[in-house]
Amino acid sequence: MDFKEVINKRRAVNFFDSEKPVSDALLREVVEMAAKAPSSFNLQPWSIMIIKDQEEKMRLRELAWNQPKVSEAPVVFIVLADRDGWKKGHPFVERNFKEMIQAGGMEEGQYDWYINACQDLYGTSQERQQAFACKNTGFFTMALMFAAKSLGLDTHPMDGFDHDGVRQAFNIPENYWVPLLLAIGYFDQTKELYPPKWRKTFDEIVVKFD
Ligand SMILES: Cc1cc2nc3c(=O)[nH]c(=O)nc-3n(C[C@H](O)[C@H](O)[C@H](O)COP(=O)(O)O)c2cc1C
Repeated sequence: MDFKEVINKRRAVNFFDSEKPVSDALLREVVEMAAKAPSSFNLQPWSIMIIKDQEEKMRLRELAWNQPKVSEAPVVFIVLADRDGWKKGHPFVERNFKEMIQAGGMEEGQYDWYINACQDLYGTSQERQQAFACKNTGFFTMALMFAAKSLGLDTHPMDGFDHDGVRQAFNIPENYWVPLLLAIGYFDQTKELYPPKWRKTFDEIVVKFD
């Protein structure tokens, strides 16, 4: 499937084939492809919980407006956005600096600059922390959906769920925001896909402020 086809064929599908599991190898491939998504300073403040167990999926479904796809899809990712993923001392922030030095993109003496830049960009308000976590994780999640489609899978992103309820039920630490749930699996071929949704035109997307 070329990229244009991936873009055109990706849909938020409502009906998954519950009888058709997704292999661990394929799931790994989806995640590894999506991990190529860009992120600010390459900080990659995303994680996922992989939910496959039927009892866990039912628990999640109850917290997600009882949307049937949550339990019918063979796999649901709880997507996590780390609001602390820019802070000094965070394991990935520190590793990222070391990796940048190794790659020749930064020098040892630039550590304070790096930490201060992260602090200024993301640490000056809760709103900025939240934006940092969610915008980067949004790119990752879009990449998950395109990667899945390119490998013959379908997906459905959802933010219709009780955020704090999911956090509590799945013991998710406070530093994570849950931007969305993502159902993954094979489309149920006995069902009909809803017609494509409308989209804003080029002229409606482009704005200017005089
Ligand atoms: C962040 C986000 C949250 C969404 N939440 C839900 C949801 O909770 N339930 C649902 O049925 N669809 C949800 N959707 C799917 C959208 O309704 C769908 O993507 C949109 O109507 C366009 O359809 P398409 O993806 O098939 O092109 C969500 C999509 C996104 C990107």
